[in-house]
Amino acid sequence: MSTLAELHEAAIMHNLFLRYQKNNIYTNIGSILAAVNPYKQIAGLYDSTAVDLYSKHQMGELPPHIFAVANECYRCLWKRHDSQCVLISGESGAGKTESTKLLLKFLSVMSQNSSGTPLSERTTRVEQALVQSSPIMEAFGNAKTVYNNNSSRFGKFIQLHFSQNGNIQGGCIIDYLLEKNRVVRQNPGERNYHIFYALLAGADKDHRDTYLLSEGPESYHYLSQAGCVQDRSLDDKQLFNSVMEALKVMEFSEEEIRDVFRLLSAVLQMGNIEFMTAGGAQITSNGVVSNVSELLGLDTFQLSEVLTQRSMILRGEEICSPLTVEQAVDSRDSVAMALYSQCFSWIIMRINQKIKGKNNFKSIGILDIFGFENFEVKRATQNILLRFLGLFSQFLSLLLQRGLDNIEDVSTNNNYHQTEIIWKFTK
Ligand SMILES: Nc1ncnc2c1ncn2[C@@H]1O[C@H](COP(=O)(O)OP(=O)(O)OP(=O)(O)O)[C@@H](O)[C@H]1O
Ligand SMILES: [Mg+2]
Repeated sequence: MSTLAELHEAAIMHNLFLRYQKNNIYTNIGSILAAVNPYKQIAGLYDSTAVDLYSKHQMGELPPHIFAVANECYRCLWKRHDSQCVLISGESGAGKTESTKLLLKFLSVMSQNSSGTPLSERTTRVEQALVQSSPIMEAFGNAKTVYNNNSSRFGKFIQLHFSQNGNIQGGCIIDYLLEKNRVVRQNPGERNYHIFYALLAGADKDHRDTYLLSEGPESYHYLSQAGCVQDRSLDDKQLFNSVMEALKVMEFSEEEIRDVFRLLSAVLQMGNIEFMTAGGAQITSNGVVSNVSELLGLDTFQLSEVLTQRSMILRGEEICSPLTVEQAVDSRDSVAMALYSQCFSWIIMRINQKIKGKNNFKSIGILDIFGFENFEVKRATQNILLRFLGLFSQFLSLLLQRGLDNIEDVSTNNNYHQTEIIWKFTK
């Protein structure tokens, strides 16, 4: 980018486009790497030869690449004697999650090849656990949207703890701002979280009986309301099998797995609870409420009360007042969202237990933020999200501007050299 004669948005976009046409999807902008999603596999771009090549060269010696960024991060742990962080940003479908996986892949190979570590202390435990946890996190935290059929609906910060010898000895995942709204409502043409469809596609007769599940996603309000229950590119049954396998490898017990699926089924059924007005909201689908209470181990009467009444403590006394149908629907949806988000947090906590390890040297953090989108229906949480993203993008623009300023310095510098003008910085 620094060789461009003119630096403005159109020139930058045109340059990125020309490079993209030649399958050069990566471009350096100062210390920032711009990546254009090719939406196709480019032969040899990420194979073991590429990993090996980039691990042996300094930044700038080879064409721009995500592996060059990963390599620079790894080297800087010792060069700068400080922890490193990679921020990945871009609109939905830009390729952030794929880039995160590529960074992890490169760092994992570097860790396994770290020469200083005695064989007995070398561990691939964390790397393996991170790879194996990926289908679980994607099934529970990703969904089909109009922009991306595997869109991350939560932010993820992955921290890898390295030993002095360069081996990954522990890690930690921090999730934030899961899009809870999606559990109860989706925009037209979008889906709920993958795991619900996977459960319905993959559950056999026994599972269906245990989890009180009916046939297809069409029968659940939380899955069918947006008019999209399937996508040709998504294999829900296959996802169910890989999630089951991953849960077992990650040492979730049979009981824990059963509890998670019971909770998911309860959330789905909750969406089918209906109300009518009769001196306040009254539940009309009593069979569904008893299913939900059975799945969650709750008392049916108490659950019905919670969904249709508001209780207040006034001068030490509990006073109940009926909710309107609209309020009852909101309270039903709030319970479903809270249950799902707690389940998600618990799963991340369990994954963290598995990847926990020593933290006695430096770390590399990778932030995979969710993508920017235009929402048709803006709701309160989405507005907060957008504000957060706005602030975050301002921060990134500042970084980008700094990168561009550096380029301007470099290109000005080059021009001066070309015209043989010798110049110095003055304070
Ligand atoms: N480097 C790449 N090479 C080939 N295909 C890619 C690459 N990066 C992304 N893709 C394709 O683009 C799709 C979307 O990428 P990804 O899920 O990483 O987007 P995202 O930026 O994380 O979006 P969101 O913000 O919605 O989560 C992937 O499923 C994959 O098919
Ligand atoms: Mg993503």
